[in-house]
Amino acid sequence: MTKRRLTEAEQAFNAGRKELLASAEAEYVADAPFVFASRIGVATALSRIEFFKKILEIPGAIVEWGVYRGNSLMLFMHLSMILEPYAINRSIIGFDTFEGFAGIDGDKDPNDINETMFSDTNDGYIQKAIELNDLVRPVNRIPRCEIVKGDIAKTAPAYVEGRDDLVVAMLVLDTDLYESTKVALETFLPLMPKGAVVVFDEVAYKNFPGETAALKEVVGLQNIELRRLPFDPCVGYYVVS
Ligand SMILES: C[S@@+](CC[C@H](N)C(=O)[O-])C[C@H]1O[C@@H](n2cnc3c(N)ncnc32)[C@H](O)[C@@H]1O
Repeated sequence: MTKRRLTEAEQAFNAGRKELLASAEAEYVADAPFVFASRIGVATALSRIEFFKKILEIPGAIVEWGVYRGNSLMLFMHLSMILEPYAINRSIIGFDTFEGFAGIDGDKDPNDINETMFSDTNDGYIQKAIELNDLVRPVNRIPRCEIVKGDIAKTAPAYVEGRDDLVVAMLVLDTDLYESTKVALETFLPLMPKGAVVVFDEVAYKNFPGETAALKEVVGLQNIELRRLPFDPCVGYYVVS
């Protein structure tokens, strides 16, 4: 969601919420997040919960490709802590530059985006949140969640190198872009068993065609059963078969 094309009503909602947030203490917001949440934010959380439930019985990592401020990544960490607290071989790995889009393709990605988009983030907050949650997590001597900073084109191939133990139960593709989605599919699909889930945050979506272009090129639409969630229109997924 780049907030490129907002309706007047959405702009009014955002302006009103900004005022409301300015009047509230940070701790109040943290304790009652749904009071301040947007419909899209709650729908995104719900979709992540649905996907998480699909891979509860599949061992391996959850890889999030494009983390931004870490909301979905930390939701996955909470879900893992709550639903499978002793899953010592579940890791949740988030890849991002934490400095905005990288590797925008002149042909396959939109021409009204640029590298400053999504640079308004702080990976230090995410790292600290992981450490804080580790304090109360069972078997916390074994790490559960980590972030990998840098351009995915370089960090991902280096990350999987020599990792014979690595199995991926779910790949969440959310960099919005063609090239990085292609790298993800090429890097992680060979590590995904039958039943594993591949999620596209923007599929069959004109405003961000890059993820779909990579899907067609690397996987092929005829080779999968592409599905959607009725409440989160641009999100698509398939189960590896
Ligand atoms: C739509 S946001 C991710 C939102 C996040 N999944 C969530 O649920 O809140 C897209 C992210 O992809 C990251 N990104 C785009 N291209 C990248 C690349 N080549 N390497 C690393 N990160 C990249 C951006 O920095 C941005 O934070």
